[in-house]
Order: sequence, then structure tokens, then C-alpha cells
Amino acid sequence: VEPNAEWRDEVLRLAKERNAVILAHNYQLPEIQDIAHHTGDSLALSRIAAQSDAETIIFCGVHFMAETAKILAPRKTVLIPDERAGCSLADSITGAQLREWKAEHPGAVVVSYVNTTAEVKAETDICCTSSNAVDVVRSIPADREVLFCPDQFLGAHVKRETGRENLHIWAGECHVHAGINGPELAERAAANPDADLFIHPECGCATSALYLSGEGIVPAEKVKILSTGDMITAARSTKATKVLVATEVGMLHQLRKAAPEIDFRAVNDRASCTYMKMITPAALLRCVRDGLDEVHVDLETAKRAQGAVQRMIEIGQ
Ligand code: 13P
Ligand code: SF4
Repeated sequence: VEPNAEWRDEVLRLAKERNAVILAHNYQLPEIQDIAHHTGDSLALSRIAAQSDAETIIFCGVHFMAETAKILAPRKTVLIPDERAGCSLADSITGAQLREWKAEHPGAVVVSYVNTTAEVKAETDICCTSSNAVDVVRSIPADREVLFCPDQFLGAHVKRETGRENLHIWAGECHVHAGINGPELAERAAANPDADLFIHPECGCATSALYLSGEGIVPAEKVKILSTGDMITAARSTKATKVLVATEVGMLHQLRKAAPEIDFRAVNDRASCTYMKMITPAALLRCVRDGLDEVHVDLETAKRAQGAVQRMIEIGQ
């Protein structure tokens, strides 16, 4: 299937017939981002899914994102073009592991990143995304212990920002972001001294970025730790003419659209998520045509997860 005008017309016609809205995460293939009714980061897309009056949500992203939409809108049909689109970070903690961890810290408040399965969300007090993780943790009374899972790099970022000693961090990671490492960032920053650094907090290099600014190697105002959605906002306001971007490479498409005059370069151009890229033009066409794959969340699990996800979309508005 070629992503040409015919494909585009057919996908949009079939979507309309189903009264479906197409959502695409910032890491999707450029042609998928371009055909979607809305693109955005995980938080923005969850909010759109919760508010949309379409009967069907077609989620071009990974499975946990489509599950989150189903938890927020249980009466809608939620489709994902390929249900095998998983997430190595979501796989780094199971419901049973979280239950065991909670048993070791009775009374602690559980904050889970949205990159988790519905089963983990059902064991969670508040979910967060990379754009509101700090606000979510700040909303918890200072004397309560916090269990933060599953991403260790985002957890370290939240701990630094909040200065909270009673925050315990699970040792999970996303293989794509963890692979964008400190030495690589330092080398790229030294070769491009005029560039701003946009760093996703899931990256292995997030601590090194702060080290570079702390040591005055890169001026502090040039180093920004941002969610994918916040990167687009920052691209519109920066005065820099060059930006080094540390996140999954799909992000470059929206950044170049938002600020065509800026030279955006990936810190690691091999940082591509194979799960995100399973949503191909052919898979999207099959999805709108045949109504596949449908996402189901067991009702009991969805009910238990709903409060945590609802709190997530309310915090940091
Ligand atoms: P955000 O879009 O919330 O920054 O999430 C990044 C991510 O890794 C999603 O898989
Ligand atoms: Fe998961 Fe990482 Fe892929 Fe995002 S980039 S979907 S966190 S594996």
C-alpha cells in the first residue's frame, strides 16, 4: 500500500463512515501523522480521547495508549491498527510485581507512568505522563511515601525536580530512550555549540544533559527536559537556529513542521521504536476497513484503573 492520495481519500472516507476519529502519537510514521485528525503526546491524546464525541477511536500509537483511551471511554469502540504494537517500558513491570512492591511499602502512594498495562494502572493511585509527572508528584502530601514506576530515568528527573527523598523508583526503562546515552550527547553538544538540547526525560542521557549545563559546558537556558508535546511548544518559541533532539526519531517530523526554519538533528538517529512503526499505511487501511484490531479491557480492571487515569488528565491542565 502506497501512502498516496488514493490511500488518503479511502482512509478518510472509511473513517467518516464509521464516525471515527484518528489519533496519532508524535512517534508515528510521517504519513500516519499527516493523515490523523489529531497528533500529540500521550497526555494530549488521552484528553482528546476522553472528550471526543466520535463513536470510534482509531489509536495510531502503541497498545497501552489505546488501552488508556478505552479506560477513559469504555462505551466507545477503540481500534489499534496492529495490536502487536507493544512497549518495552510497559513490559518492565507486571501487576504482580507492583502488588509485591506495594506490600513492602504499606501506605505509599503509587504513581505509574501511562506507559503501563491496564493491570498495572488498576493497582495505581495516580497515572502521569512525561508532561505532568512533576505536577502529579507535587500534588501528593510531602509526608507520604511515593512509589514511582516503571521508568527509572523519568523517576530520577521527578526526584531531582521535587527534591523528594521519600520517592522510590522502579528500575524499568524504554530500550529506545535508554540507548540515547550521555557520551553520545556530550559529543554531539561539543560539535554543535550553538544548538539547544531538547531531551525527553526517558533518555539515558537526561542526567548528563543536566551535568553539561551544571558545569557550564552548555548554557543552562539551552538545555530543556521536555515531553514530546512540550518539545513542539518549545520549538515555536526558541531563538536557536539549531536543536539537538534526544528522543524517538518520529518526533522530528512534527518539530520540522512546527518550525521549518530550525535545523533539528537527532542525537541518535538509530533511536526508532519498532512498535510505533508497526502502524503502517496498510495496517491503518485494514483497520478502518475491517474494524481491526479492537482493544478490550476487562470491565473490572477498567473500573479499578479509571480513577488513576482520570486524575492524570486533570493534573497539569
Ligand atoms: P510522551 O509523548 O508523553 O512524551 O511519551 C513518550 C513515549 O515514549 C511514549 O511512548
Ligand atoms: Fe515504549 Fe519506548 Fe516505544 Fe515509547 S519509544 S512506545 S516507551 S518502547
